[in-house]
Amino acid sequence: MATNRTFTMIKPDAVAEGNSGAIIKMIEEAGFRIVAIKKTLLTKERAGEFYAVHAERPFYGELCDYMSSGPIIPIILEKENAVLDFRTLIGATNPANAAEGTIRKAFAKSVQANAIHGSDSDENASIEGFFFFGGIEQF
Ligand code: TYD
Repeated sequence: MATNRTFTMIKPDAVAEGNSGAIIKMIEEAGFRIVAIKKTLLTKERAGEFYAVHAERPFYGELCDYMSSGPIIPIILEKENAVLDFRTLIGATNPANAAEGTIRKAFAKSVQANAIHGSDSDENASIEGFFFFGGIEQF
């Protein structure tokens, strides 16, 4: 069954380059409603916790350094079929493979600095949303 919420995070490269407004515009024009949003900073430890699933991968250390290198913008989004539709909107992990019209095609710099995160399942969307926002903020 399709659910209606997902979690995203505008990553340090996109925030630092002033692309967050353009990215949020693409998200809203694609029909997503912003449920919760803020600008914050991850410590390396918190970045490691967020990406714990990748702890054994060779890129994990660099990924945690990068994700804690500057402010990020975590966002909870709502739309019918949110998780899958948002993965389509952001495009492939590697921007070289991202389709035209996707956020990563427009703004990603590299596999690591790829502008934006999108939850890959309903369960992770909920876990990741609560990683950044208390229940009272998720209205
Ligand atoms: P992954 O969950 O595979 O991709 P996605 O963000 O599209 O769900 O990987 C998580 C993040 O880890 C990815 O957005 C960027 C980083 N990453 C690297 O830095 N190097 C890599 O080789 C891979 C596969 C990912």
